[in-house]
Amino acid sequence: MLKIAHRGAKAYEPENTLQAFQKALDLNSDGIELDVHLSSDGHIIVIHDETIDRTTNGKGLVSSFSLAELKSFLIDGKHQIPTLNEVFDLVNKKCLINIELKGLGTAPKVVALIEEYITATNWNYNHFIISSFDWNMLEETSTLNSNIPIGVLTEEDLDKALVFAEKIKAKAIHPDFQLLNADNVSEMQKKDFLVLPWTVNSEEDIQKVKSYKVNGIISDNPDKI
Ligand code: G3P
Ligand code: CA
Repeated sequence: MLKIAHRGAKAYEPENTLQAFQKALDLNSDGIELDVHLSSDGHIIVIHDETIDRTTNGKGLVSSFSLAELKSFLIDGKHQIPTLNEVFDLVNKKCLINIELKGLGTAPKVVALIEEYITATNWNYNHFIISSFDWNMLEETSTLNSNIPIGVLTEEDLDKALVFAEKIKAKAIHPDFQLLNADNVSEMQKKDFLVLPWTVNSEEDIQKVKSYKVNGIISDNPDKI
């Protein structure tokens, strides 16, 4: 049962910050989940929304700012928005990194960065899993490098997700936990997919999805799993 910290340990530290990812490590999480967009100068930025409005003291589209400009905005008055490189360096192979592709153009950049870390610093493909609700970007990822593990995100249709996962030879299916029951979890596992539901936070929901024998849980409070 993998304990995966959603946007870092979001229940305890501001989401998608280095502090949230460090907290996830401190809680002995097996993995972290994070979201990525591109800056105007092509850096991979770890942030959930397409704008910086909700989480920082600035306003505007992530893609309209350079990395240097994005670094001048603060989260909760003290944290900077991290790049994906900074998160890789912090985690340093200590746990799985689930990278959710949000922004357009992120697939080739993330694939290239993963390849760079694998070549230069002894990481391996099992340190990563790329997920997205945008299945075109998952298809692009698998075409660029079929060794990179992929998790198919879905919030509505499990059957469609299963068909697509088979098509692109994904490693996992990441469903909204409310879609699950013991039978459909077992059906996905019989086809050799890991089942990694999100975002399961309450004790009651955690117990429920555990009873379905899922392979892992993505949660704001991974210590409760
Ligand atoms: O990984 C699943 C989950 O993160 C998807 O929802 O909105 O938190 O990115 P969201
Ligand atoms: Ca996410």
